[in-house]
Amino acid sequence: MLENRIYNFSAGPSMLPEPVLVRAQKELLNYEGSGMSVMEMSHRSKVYDKIICDCQENLRKVMNIPDHYKVLFLQGGATGMFAAIPLNLAKTGTADYIVTGNFSGGAYKEGKKYLKDARLAGSTESENFTRIPKQEELTLNPDADYVHICENNTIFGTKWHWLPETGNVPLVADLSSCILSEPVDVTKYGMIYGGAQKNMAPAGFAVVIVREDLLGNKSGLCPKIWDFATQADKNSMINTPPTYAIYICKLVLDWILNDVGGLENMKKRNEEKAAMLYDYLETTDFYKSGVQKDSRSMMNVTFRTGDDELDKKFVAASVERGFTNLKGHRLVGGMRASIYNAMPKEGVEALIDFMKEFEKANR
Ligand SMILES: Cc1ncc(COP(=O)(O)O)c(C=O)c1O
Repeated sequence: MLENRIYNFSAGPSMLPEPVLVRAQKELLNYEGSGMSVMEMSHRSKVYDKIICDCQENLRKVMNIPDHYKVLFLQGGATGMFAAIPLNLAKTGTADYIVTGNFSGGAYKEGKKYLKDARLAGSTESENFTRIPKQEELTLNPDADYVHICENNTIFGTKWHWLPETGNVPLVADLSSCILSEPVDVTKYGMIYGGAQKNMAPAGFAVVIVREDLLGNKSGLCPKIWDFATQADKNSMINTPPTYAIYICKLVLDWILNDVGGLENMKKRNEEKAAMLYDYLETTDFYKSGVQKDSRSMMNVTFRTGDDELDKKFVAASVERGFTNLKGHRLVGGMRASIYNAMPKEGVEALIDFMKEFEKANR
């Protein structure tokens, strides 16, 4: 870690890799001899066109995205896509939603606005979203236009470690908080999307990876800027895209390709960090992880002491110690350590040391 930087456990926007920030700083005032920063250049310029094309190419390389999938960078975040999905993909107006937390619930709510029949095909709400449902608990409609899931539940700290069997029905997945954390088989999905502000870039866009043959069912009500087919034709530039965020995304992808060595290596690094924290949580009864073991998230680790006042004390003491953003989401309370790609192993080690000391002093 560079001097004066702290371990930031924010759920998003969150830490960016330091080599990326250093490179952005170096390139800030005069990008590749253009005499200006990327923030200042026309999105229609040759220089910028190369940046957005390289960003897409890098993403295709890193995620091994086949040619019959379109890659888009759209504004409105993942929340915008909750609406854009039914507006682009609904053929008959019937879709299945599996609700495993706040964001999948949000997607379902938006689906209900735009679909004739948005079905709830599974939910773990009655168990406070502490786990992912099993296949046999799902009631999937074989004629649905798509099945929607949220693959990593940022607030509750759970993750799908398998994908639901949907037959010929395309799977649409929100990967906002786990994209680029490990390899995924893109061909298992009809569409992958996510807000960029965790593992990809600063806030400003949602990435959409969508199978070509699913386009062409657009509703007449679909806003032009969220029209997937047109955006694909226009290289995500119907209007001015969030140019700087896309540039940083390109640098993050360079970092994954050249410094980390791809997503297999990224996964190993992330598994090691998460295992350290979960292993420690298993050795103590002072902190409790409410999440079922088979549903644990590798990116967002939630825990609590069981005493709200003590949780508050923990969060205050963690700030004094030089950490930030360990407070759990207001919907669940307790604590949450978001340990995305850019969080170094040393950050997790330092957190565990602090947790041990806090336990000793407050037991
Ligand atoms: C899994 C997931 N989906 C959706 C969102 C909403 O994303 P955005 O703020 O880009 O709309 C978030 C934000 O934290 C998230 O974690």
